[in-house]
Amino acid sequence: MTTTNKTSKHVHIFDTTLRDGQQCPGAGMNFEENLDYARLAANVQIDILEAGFPAASAEDFKIVKSIAQMYAQMKSSPKVAALCQMREEQIITTIESLKSLIPSGRARLHVYVPVDPELMKASLGSYADNHEKIHKDLYKYITMSIDAGCEVEFSPEGYSRMGDSFDFVTGVIDTAIKAGATIINCPDTIGGACYLQGDDFFVNKMKRHADIMSQRYPDKNIIWSAHCHNDYGLALTNTMQSIFDGPVTQIEGCFNGIGERAGNVSLEQCIMYLKAFGMNNSTNQNYHTTTKTHGIKDISDFVATHMLPRQAHWPISGENAARHSSGGHTNAILKNPQAYQPFDPKDVGKEITFIFGPLSGSNHAQSIIQEHGYVCDNNEKITLTQFIKDYFSNRRKGLTDPEFMQAYFAYRAPIKIKTYKYRKRAEVTEINIDGTFNGEEKTINAVSKIGGTALTALHHALEEYLAPISIESFRSQSKDKGEEALSVSSISISYSNDLYTGLGEDIDIEVSALKALVNAVNRTVVHKNFSIQAHKIAS
Ligand code: KIV
Ligand code: ZN
Repeated sequence: MTTTNKTSKHVHIFDTTLRDGQQCPGAGMNFEENLDYARLAANVQIDILEAGFPAASAEDFKIVKSIAQMYAQMKSSPKVAALCQMREEQIITTIESLKSLIPSGRARLHVYVPVDPELMKASLGSYADNHEKIHKDLYKYITMSIDAGCEVEFSPEGYSRMGDSFDFVTGVIDTAIKAGATIINCPDTIGGACYLQGDDFFVNKMKRHADIMSQRYPDKNIIWSAHCHNDYGLALTNTMQSIFDGPVTQIEGCFNGIGERAGNVSLEQCIMYLKAFGMNNSTNQNYHTTTKTHGIKDISDFVATHMLPRQAHWPISGENAARHSSGGHTNAILKNPQAYQPFDPKDVGKEITFIFGPLSGSNHAQSIIQEHGYVCDNNEKITLTQFIKDYFSNRRKGLTDPEFMQAYFAYRAPIKIKTYKYRKRAEVTEINIDGTFNGEEKTINAVSKIGGTALTALHHALEEYLAPISIESFRSQSKDKGEEALSVSSISISYSNDLYTGLGEDIDIEVSALKALVNAVNRTVVHKNFSIQAHKIAS
C-alpha cells in the first residue's frame, strides 16, 4: 500500500435529490418539504445542491428561488445549481431564480444538451442534425449566463452512450469551455456503463476528453464531474472509477439513491466509500469529501419519510445496517461493538440496535431485561429466553421491546388464569376463576356486593395478593364494530405511590376488565419483586 507523500483531492458532492430525485415517480415533495430538505443538505455540508428545474413551472421556480434566498442569508452554504435546457426563455428564468446567490458566487446554472445519438434524435428532432446551430446556441447561452454572474456546468446528456460521436462531443465540450463553463459533467444517463466496455467505457472517454481539454486550455481549471444512474446496479462502482481511474473531482447523486428508473448513485454510499478508501489506499492519489457524515442518518430518514421508502437492508443508512438479531452476532457485539460492523454507525448518526428474534441468545435477552430495569439472573436466563421465544413462537420476524417485556412479565406473573367465568344472579355477580396463584392451583369463587360487577368481585378477592388495591382509572372500548368485536380494557392501580397499568382483551367486555385487573396486579407484583431498583433496596 502506497502511503508516502500523497496529496488529497477534494471530491465535490453535488446533491441532486431535489432535482433528479424528484423526477422519480412518487418522490415529489411540496414547497415546505423542499425547503426542509435544503436545510438538512446545508447541515451535512454537501458542496452543491441542485434545487430543481425552475423553468418547469411557477412552483418549481418558487422552490429554487426560495432555497437560493434561504442560503443567501447563511454565511456559508452549499452552492445552488438549477437545471435547464438550452432555450433562451429557460436560461433567463433559471438565472432569475438564482439571482440572490450571484453576489456571493454560489449560483450555478446547469445546462444540458443530448449527445447520445438515440437521445438526440428522440428529443431534439431535426435540430439534432444542425450541429452548427447547437454550437452557436451553446456558446450564446453559456456566455449569457456567465455575464449574468452564474458559474456554468455543462452536461452532454447521454455521454456514456455517445458511440461513434466522440469528435462531436469533443466539439460541444470545447464550445462550452470556450464560452466559460467550468464544470463538465458526463452522465451515464441510462445507467448502462460498465468498465468491461473497454475503450467505450465512459470513464475512458472522459480521460481522453480531459487530456484534450487540458492541452487546449492549459490555464483553465475545469472540474470534471460524473453523474451515474443505477440501472445495472453499477452506479457506485462507476462513480468511484470515474474518480480513482478518471479525472473526476465532482460526483452527482441523490441520498438513498433515488432518481429516474433504478435511481442515481447513492450519495451516502459515495461519501462513506471515500471516507473508508479515499485515503491511504493503493493508488497514488488520496481523495476526501468535506461532508459532515454525522448528518447522514437524518437526511436519509427524511428522504425515506417524505420521498420514497428505503429498504431495511439499505447500505449505510438502512434500519438494519446497524441492527442485529442472531445470537452469535449479538453476543460478540455486546463484548465489542465493532465486532460485526465495518465502521462505527455513530459516524453516520446511527446507534447499534438489537432486535430479539428466534435466533437470538440468552445474553441478548438478559441485556434487554436489564436495560428495562428488571432482574434476570445468570441461572435463569436460558429458561427465561426459551419462555419468551415460546410465548411469541409465531413471531419469526422478531419482537419489539414492549412485546419482549410483555413476555417477561408473563413469565414472572404470580397469577396465571386458565378460565374466567361469571354469572349475574339477582343483584349480584358471581365469579368463578381457575388458575395458578403463586404456583398453587386454585379456583377463586367470589360474589360481588349488591349491584356489583364481575370486576368488583375480583377486585376484592385479589386484595389478598396485594392489599389494598386502589383502582385509579378504568376504561373499556370496542376495537372494531359488530357483536364479535373485541373489547379492550385498561385499568390503572396505585401501589406505593406508583401507578401500574394492565390491559385485557376479550369479546366479553366484563372478561376484558377482569383480564386487565389481573394484568395490572401482576405488573405491580413483578415490579415490586423483580425490578433492579427494588432488589437494590431489599439487599
Ligand atoms: O441523467 C442525466 O443525464 C441527467 C442530466 C440532465 C445531468 O440527469
Ligand atoms: Zn440523471
